[in-house]
Amino acid sequence: MSEDAFVQILSEIRKFAESANDLASLQSFIVEIIPQRLPYYNWTGFYMLDPEDSNILVLGPFRGAPTEHIRIPVSEGICGAAVAQGASILVDDVASDRRYLACSIETRSEIVIPVRVHGEIVGEIDIDSHEPAAFSPRDKEFLEECAAIVGGFMERIQAQATSPR
Ligand code: SME
Repeated sequence: MSEDAFVQILSEIRKFAESANDLASLQSFIVEIIPQRLPYYNWTGFYMLDPEDSNILVLGPFRGAPTEHIRIPVSEGICGAAVAQGASILVDDVASDRRYLACSIETRSEIVIPVRVHGEIVGEIDIDSHEPAAFSPRDKEFLEECAAIVGGFMERIQAQATSPR
């Protein structure tokens, strides 16, 4: 993938985040634009920690095949492992990873990137590809930047919600 594509997508996401009013619209913009520009991103979605139970990830906006994994305990799946380990996880071959929870039989590789607010994980971006080993260190860096934009946006709207008028 050309370097320009990553730079251009990040610039558009940053611009959208500056004027977005709510988290869901920013997340929806991200899951729309990324697979449009990066065709090997076959499933792109957010899982956010349940505010009522921080041991459960809840499916948010996504693009791709519907998944049965609407709620994932942090003790399960590659999605759960990213929260439990507090780190991005890149799996080149999902068939050889015992943690993997299948979403589509076509999925061959996966990457999960935590979203942090003031350093605390609040959710994650999850991407599946039909290609084996689809994601490079540059994809990881790109997605970590997307996650940082989302975390920064959440910090801003939280600060606005609690600031005196
Ligand atoms: N594969 C994930 C589950 C979510 S679906 O891919 C959409 C996992 O192993 O946690």
